[in-house]
Amino acid sequence: MSLSLSRPDLMRRQNLINGEWADARDACRYSVHNPASDALLAEVPDSTAIDARAATDAAYRALPGWRHKLPRERAEVLRRWHALILANGDDLATLISLEQGKPLSEARGEVAYGASYVDWFAGEATRVYGDIIPQQQPGKRMTVEKEPVGVVAAITPWNFPLAMIARKIAPALAVGCTVVAKPAEDTPLTALALAALAVEAGVTPGVLNVITASRTRGIDAVADWLADDRVRKMTFTGSTAVGIHLARESAGTLKKLSLELGGNAPFIVFDDADLESAVVGLMASKFRNGGQTCVCPNRVYVQAGIYERFASTLARRVEALHVAPASDAHAQIGPMINPRAVEKIGRHVEDALSHGARALTGGATLPLLGPNYFSPTVLVDVNDSMLVSQEETFGPVVPLFRFETEDEAIHRANDTPFGLAAYFYTQDMRRAQRVARRLEAGVIGMNEGAVSSEAAPFGGVKASGYGREGSKYGLDDYVSIKYVCQGGLD
Ligand code: SIN
Repeated sequence: MSLSLSRPDLMRRQNLINGEWADARDACRYSVHNPASDALLAEVPDSTAIDARAATDAAYRALPGWRHKLPRERAEVLRRWHALILANGDDLATLISLEQGKPLSEARGEVAYGASYVDWFAGEATRVYGDIIPQQQPGKRMTVEKEPVGVVAAITPWNFPLAMIARKIAPALAVGCTVVAKPAEDTPLTALALAALAVEAGVTPGVLNVITASRTRGIDAVADWLADDRVRKMTFTGSTAVGIHLARESAGTLKKLSLELGGNAPFIVFDDADLESAVVGLMASKFRNGGQTCVCPNRVYVQAGIYERFASTLARRVEALHVAPASDAHAQIGPMINPRAVEKIGRHVEDALSHGARALTGGATLPLLGPNYFSPTVLVDVNDSMLVSQEETFGPVVPLFRFETEDEAIHRANDTPFGLAAYFYTQDMRRAQRVARRLEAGVIGMNEGAVSSEAAPFGGVKASGYGREGSKYGLDDYVSIKYVCQGGLD
């Protein structure tokens, strides 16, 4: 199966600033590679602070015009964008697979998932309600309005090149903010294609600006946004270390922040669980995007009574997964994003094996397939001191921890600085309520492995960050509250 575009013009190789496609001011470029083969896909602008500043200038100039449009008019633009994303879904999925590596079927799923946020926030655009506060004093009327925060900087990760940028841009545009965005170094092409479709949908010049950059120069570009007090909000998905850096560096201009950071999700299977649905749920959530999502279960706790049966059933299913490049129509697991990712996964597995764990299946790289493949792996006899317990592996590795009691499982599940997602399986409904209450995470899967939805609030607690994306709550991060007290009414 060849991966080509029916609209080659969607492969953009320039920044979008003020409605125009432009090279970096100093004309530098960097290369984007297919992680499946390391083949060169394109060269894109290696932007600097100068380009970031030009994007902010454009977004700031466009702000009054966009925020004063009727909500219905902004919603119409978002609806046209949504329709264009779906109409060009095959090309967008191809770009996702080419630059990120996920199988084409998953990439198509990501297009639908990302588009659903655009549709959702088109609807929400017309529902940004304020309040009238019941009268407190004679002659006074107190009202509350929600206003767009202003220019928003969006910094997005490589694991969902379309969905993550869509779910930041859509709420921002819906409420009347304008946007400057920088996609991840490894995956700029989908973001640029999405921006091209936004222009076709009628997003006016300056309302959406996208610049691309390599890691080092990208840091300078983002530093310019951090220091610029015209940028009123920053929304970031990525590592906790970078999130903390952004929080610290944005303090000087007191920006509003949403930070969707790392996870270390526990997945607990109690003895009374429906074993088959627990295995199905685990497979779906663990192997989504080859294990490269922030909500992938990282630590799987299985109660002693079903540990052996669960492990052998799971290992059989994992062994049957088809690992292949996206050009193989039957691929279920693609390559990891880059050699650094493969090195980390290998280090985690090596650490576990050298401290007494056993691999029921997998456990090694697959060099014959390409440079960045790692075999889907099930590890047993793991313990809490191993790296697979302490850090997010971000790959197709399932470590199975044994536990005895409910209290023990909850204590070990919560014993991490992170708190993004947590999952558990039980058929005892009283236990279900207890466990859901006690788990420290922003997103809980109760007898369910697929939790993400445009209609639900996505975000974490503790070192997994703050702010929510999606749902009616997803608007809160892009508005500020204005209280108006009108006097002299008597
Ligand atoms: C992420 O990995 O950051 C997002 C996953 C999702 O939206 O389900």
